[in-house]
Amino acid sequence: MDINADTNHAAWDAVSEKYWREYDDLLAKARVGDSLVEVEREVLTPLLAGGPDVVHLQSGDGIDDHALVRAGARSVVGVDYSHRAAAASARRAADLDVPVRYVVARIPETPLADASADLVYTGKGALIWMTDLDAWATEIARILRPGGHLFVYDGHPAFALWSWDEDEARIRPDRGYFAPTYPCDSYPANGAIEHQWNLGQVVNAVVRAGLPVRHLGEHPEPFWKMGELEAAAWQGRLPNTFSLLAGPR
Ligand SMILES: C[S@@+](CC[C@H](N)C(=O)[O-])C[C@H]1O[C@@H](n2cnc3c(N)ncnc32)[C@H](O)[C@@H]1O
Repeated sequence: MDINADTNHAAWDAVSEKYWREYDDLLAKARVGDSLVEVEREVLTPLLAGGPDVVHLQSGDGIDDHALVRAGARSVVGVDYSHRAAAASARRAADLDVPVRYVVARIPETPLADASADLVYTGKGALIWMTDLDAWATEIARILRPGGHLFVYDGHPAFALWSWDEDEARIRPDRGYFAPTYPCDSYPANGAIEHQWNLGQVVNAVVRAGLPVRHLGEHPEPFWKMGELEAAAWQGRLPNTFSLLAGPR
């Protein structure tokens, strides 16, 4: 199944209107600044203690940028190709007067300078939208300073396989761990096509870009749930997220 980058981009820009509709709620969440999950706090606390300049690839709603600053980041640059997402996040950063700014770019290309970040942070629904993992990892290695790290906390590649049945976890008949792509039938939908990168492909792309893997974790909790749904597949028996720390070169 071909990935049409323009269709995916349009789907994200359309749903990102929600960041304006929900502006006040997101502003309140940003003020609290506690959106990092446990494994993010465990792995990132020592790095954030050094006051790094962070780049957040696919910054989306931008809420994590406030948590990163609160945990010690000296600055955060969010990169997203949705103008609406970036503009809503930039308005909030100005309202809260924090050292966070946004650039609009279609990753893997970014307008960021070589060796300009100490930490590249990404995930929570990011890698499934990348069409070329080697180009993605190479761009990350380019913008990292010597001594810099990449941190990913994202959906586990198996997450897409589980049905959302509440009585019992089942494997969806229309998905495969090694299938390259599948249509997005949840969010943002609207014709978007997701990439089914498996864990080996992610790790190998990072290593090929020259970033040694320091930590790889698989976790039962999903990073996202559809509304109030509590699928049996999310109750602790199956992997739903992974975390990865790589670098320095
Ligand atoms: C699931 S969302 C958000 C992830 C974000 N970490 C969050 O928690 O809000 C994925 C984001 O990736 C962005 N995106 C997808 N493909 C992209 C690309 N090639 N370049 C830049 N942004 C992209 C979308 O606009 C969307 O904001």
